[in-house]
Amino acid sequence: MDRRNFLKVLSVGAATLFLSGCGVASVANEKSASAESKNISGGKKMKIVVINSSPHSETQSTSRYLAQKFTEGAKSAGHEVFTFDAAKEETHPCQGCDHCGMDGDCIFNDAITTKLMPKMLEADLLVLVTPLYYYGMSAQLKVIIDRFYSRTERLHRKKSLLLATAWNTADWTMTALNTHYETLVRYMEWENVGAVLATGCGYRSAVESSKFGDEAYKIGANL
Ligand SMILES: Cc1cc2nc3c(=O)[nH]c(=O)nc-3n(C[C@H](O)[C@H](O)[C@H](O)COP(=O)(O)O)c2cc1C
Repeated sequence: MDRRNFLKVLSVGAATLFLSGCGVASVANEKSASAESKNISGGKKMKIVVINSSPHSETQSTSRYLAQKFTEGAKSAGHEVFTFDAAKEETHPCQGCDHCGMDGDCIFNDAITTKLMPKMLEADLLVLVTPLYYYGMSAQLKVIIDRFYSRTERLHRKKSLLLATAWNTADWTMTALNTHYETLVRYMEWENVGAVLATGCGYRSAVESSKFGDEAYKIGANL
């Protein structure tokens, strides 16, 4: 079933769970935040890791679009950006085996261990990018976050940013995701740079014509 069919099937469901107000391209978003007035980097060139998690392609994905705009902004300000593709790389969920003892080698020698973890350990800013899936983050992104476990203390005290897109426009659309993100920020002792919570952005042309691309760009450019 392709995405269009998925949405169509949902739209005829009694609850129209995801789709109340769908198709509206321009939406108010109560919780999106930007770093416009902050001086996050203190003039330092930052190392940034962007973690994409949509299975959609670079040209079709709405969340990747936000990541692209953020990256353009960050690079224009001279920051170094490494992008990891959680949906396309080989990854494995944490097995909870505790082989790592929360600061050691993971049993998996996959792309998280070999490509992403070294970059995350030296990064100043981690950017979590996700489509909204059943009112939370994608499974692809959650796999990455659970794998923080092997180095959890060493991933503390970084800066972080959330970029998320959703079909729905209801004011509670991003509530659960944002609460989870804020809880993660608190536990990880991260400095929250902001969140772009792009509701009403269920397809590419909607996000491209929304205000959210500019918001993402400005956060990157104003770091
Ligand atoms: C498995 C799945 C679950 C979804 N769940 C939600 C949801 O809970 N709320 C919502 O508003 N949109 C939901 N959507 C729609 C996507 O969040 C939306 O289309 C988004 O723009 C996709 O981003 P992407 O193109 O970067 O993958 C869901 C889509 C899929 C495929």
